[in-house]
Amino acid sequence: MCGIAAYLGWQQAAAILADALRRLEYRGYDSAGVATLNNGELHCCRAVGTISALQKKLIGKPLPGTMGIGHTRWATHGSVTELNTHPHFSMDGKFAIVHNGVVENFASIREFLSLQGYNFYSETDTEALVNLIAYHYAKEPENATKDRFLESVRKSLLHVRGAYGIAVICCERPMEMIGARNSSQLILGIGKDELFLSSDVASFTTHTRDVVFLNDNELVHIKNDSFAITTLNMEEVAAVRQQVDWDTVAVELNGYPHFMLKEIFEQPHALENAIRGRIENDTATAHLGGLQMTAHELRGINRIIFCACGTAWCACLVAEYFIEKIARIPVEVEYASEFRYRNAPLDQKTLLIVISQSGETVDTLAAMREAQRRGIRVLAITNCVGSAIAREANGGIYQHSGPEIGVASTKAFTSQLCIAALLALQLGRLRDLSEADGMEIIGALKQLPAQVKSILDQSSHIQAIAERYQSCTDMIFLGRQSMFPIALEGALKLKEISYIHAEGYPAAEMKHGPIALIAPQCPVLCLACNEENIFEKTLSNIQEVRARGARTIIIAREGSPIGVTDDVIWIPPAHDVTIPILATIPVQLFAYHMGILRGCSVDKPRHLAKSVTVE
Ligand code: G6P
Repeated sequence: MCGIAAYLGWQQAAAILADALRRLEYRGYDSAGVATLNNGELHCCRAVGTISALQKKLIGKPLPGTMGIGHTRWATHGSVTELNTHPHFSMDGKFAIVHNGVVENFASIREFLSLQGYNFYSETDTEALVNLIAYHYAKEPENATKDRFLESVRKSLLHVRGAYGIAVICCERPMEMIGARNSSQLILGIGKDELFLSSDVASFTTHTRDVVFLNDNELVHIKNDSFAITTLNMEEVAAVRQQVDWDTVAVELNGYPHFMLKEIFEQPHALENAIRGRIENDTATAHLGGLQMTAHELRGINRIIFCACGTAWCACLVAEYFIEKIARIPVEVEYASEFRYRNAPLDQKTLLIVISQSGETVDTLAAMREAQRRGIRVLAITNCVGSAIAREANGGIYQHSGPEIGVASTKAFTSQLCIAALLALQLGRLRDLSEADGMEIIGALKQLPAQVKSILDQSSHIQAIAERYQSCTDMIFLGRQSMFPIALEGALKLKEISYIHAEGYPAAEMKHGPIALIAPQCPVLCLACNEENIFEKTLSNIQEVRARGARTIIIAREGSPIGVTDDVIWIPPAHDVTIPILATIPVQLFAYHMGILRGCSVDKPRHLAKSVTVE
């Protein structure tokens, strides 16, 4: 949530920062701002609304200077106003800061500073922090051994409780900048005679791919074209430079009208990437190299807890079906925000697996840390290389989906399901799964990209269906077994993208409440993709809602005897392990077309953010 970017180099900073913020916009789009430093003077431009509002303002008010900081906001403390928009300045006008995260003890810091005569103009926690830095700077003597700027930031951060990724500049320090992080991603980009700081590498990969991922409680002090990293306790840190390989084309629309549609259509490729190099035909198994566990250790696991938030949580529910069915290991699924505060009994044979596209979701990170504190091994399934979750997990599996920019997760979700299937296969083959059954799963996974493509070809058919339902007020999604999490995900997607109230329910459970909502304006989308008797039971549930006047859309395997319905979307017949992935594609396209038909901002739905770094 919120994205920060900073630049120090030889180019005009405001233009570089505006472009970086455009690429960070998925993290928050309530308001945005930039501050630059030129000849000892701080300049600022802030605007409520999307980055384009800021860009328009910058045309009328170009900011001079080759160093600066920028921010795109997802409001936490304080409403969406220009006064609350970052960058924030210290009362003495010396410091400007951008901040991603929450200073939890900001009220006490503010109270302390008020007593020292400081005034505040915004309602934000960040303004307390920038004034605390000014307070320490005013008190700190110029000293030959300690840098006064660095010391004042360091001392301030020692008082902060909460999460932060920050970039600070000081009008008395031309060509200097300090960045720091705790629980909020911050990455240093090293270009030719220029340096970048950002919440996401995607914001500067057009300039450089040479990066350093900062760790929690580290500060980076940039001076001209060099930098030094230290801990909050003043220990020097040797920078670990890495090359990121994300394709910059992936963060461009590339001819598509929206990132969401582009990412839906990238799924065949994303699934190929998730599978590539991970199948062993000879032994009919999968090999997930990053697990960092021996076969013996994997066999010793007798319980798996999956933890995540949002769409990734729906992926966990599908993983539960896969792993229990294929590997016969008991699985529980938890919301990370609940698990982290619940004293769940855990023992050494329990494995915690977290799923997070961004690898940054604060509740997922906290859940993982809590389990590790209790001596439990944690594996992570994540898309973001170098993210906090990726680095802190004891082992894991990268999704290789490529950058996902649309706020609503699409390709990352189906890749997570694919990896869950691979994991179930590997765990199953270490237990009782036969070679023949293993080979069947492998065959199904290999067919997956082409099958997904055949469903994508139905996009205009799904658009035509959406046209008939665009004015509904509510919608119910039903499914049984592994189709139930897809019903939840379909309802979530529709809510996020089209602002239609939607609920996902196990098809039979619908009779225990939601059936009361059935009316012409509340159609039912039913995922009837299961086989045999479960399929038949789902059909009975469809008849129950139709008997009460519901319009129905059915998603089913080609050739299934679905009976009467208003609309149908066929998916190819497939193995149980790939059916949930295939069934997801139509619900994504349906949500997308509904959102577009209703004039919604599908890539940046109101109030949402892609990466949720506050609790
Ligand atoms: C936000 C996003 C969702 C995402 C969830 C979890 O709510 O809008 O699309 O599923 O966070 O994010 P993660 O990065 O942990 O998968």
